[in-house]
Amino acid sequence: MKRKGLLIAFEGIDGTGKTTQIEMLSEVLRRRGFSVVATREPTDGQYGRKIRELYKNRKSVTPEEELALFLDDRREHVAQVIAPALARGEVVLTDRYYFSTAAYQGAAGHDPLKIIAANELFAPVPDMVIMLEAPVSLGVHRVQKLRGETLNDFEQEETLAKVAGIFADLKGSCIRRIDGTGNAETVHGLVMKNVAELFEPEI
Ligand code: TYD
Repeated sequence: MKRKGLLIAFEGIDGTGKTTQIEMLSEVLRRRGFSVVATREPTDGQYGRKIRELYKNRKSVTPEEELALFLDDRREHVAQVIAPALARGEVVLTDRYYFSTAAYQGAAGHDPLKIIAANELFAPVPDMVIMLEAPVSLGVHRVQKLRGETLNDFEQEETLAKVAGIFADLKGSCIRRIDGTGNAETVHGLVMKNVAELFEPEI
């Protein structure tokens, strides 16, 4: 499928503000006349729903089965949402993508670089990855105290420290590391500064 649109992935540990930043960027881009598809992984599709069931009991599957579920979910996401939107020339903002698989399933023992290679066989490489960075303790605090949520099986602090370490080591020219510790407006300013180059001279 011919690709005309733009794909921007938001990555980072839980509580770094990905969802808020996607909402803010979507609004700016839509106001400026772009057609925006804001989407997320895990998806709400058949595999995404299975993944959400795992939140309560991650041990019910093997690490291999877990990795396969995330890949199946992404294959469906690419085929049904991402590739068609890119072919229509739209801007796709995804809340998590295959860098999350490298980091989270990497923390569970898989080789992060092999995970990336397996994904790049079928998943379009993003034009930019906005990697939001914040200390694990702040991410956990935001999830627990501010959202009033409990940590699911993927989000235990020790695991998240490993996940953050892998995110920090990932290399690639499309990756932009952004300080996610400030308030939403401050982080939005940093996001805008980075994505502006993709839209030049339009925004
Ligand atoms: P999250 O962004 O918290 O989604 P939601 O708020 O909709 O539940 O993601 C859910 C969890 O899934 C998160 O802890 C990270 C994990 N995850 C992986 O382990 N691998 C992946 O490939 C993806 C996309 C997410």
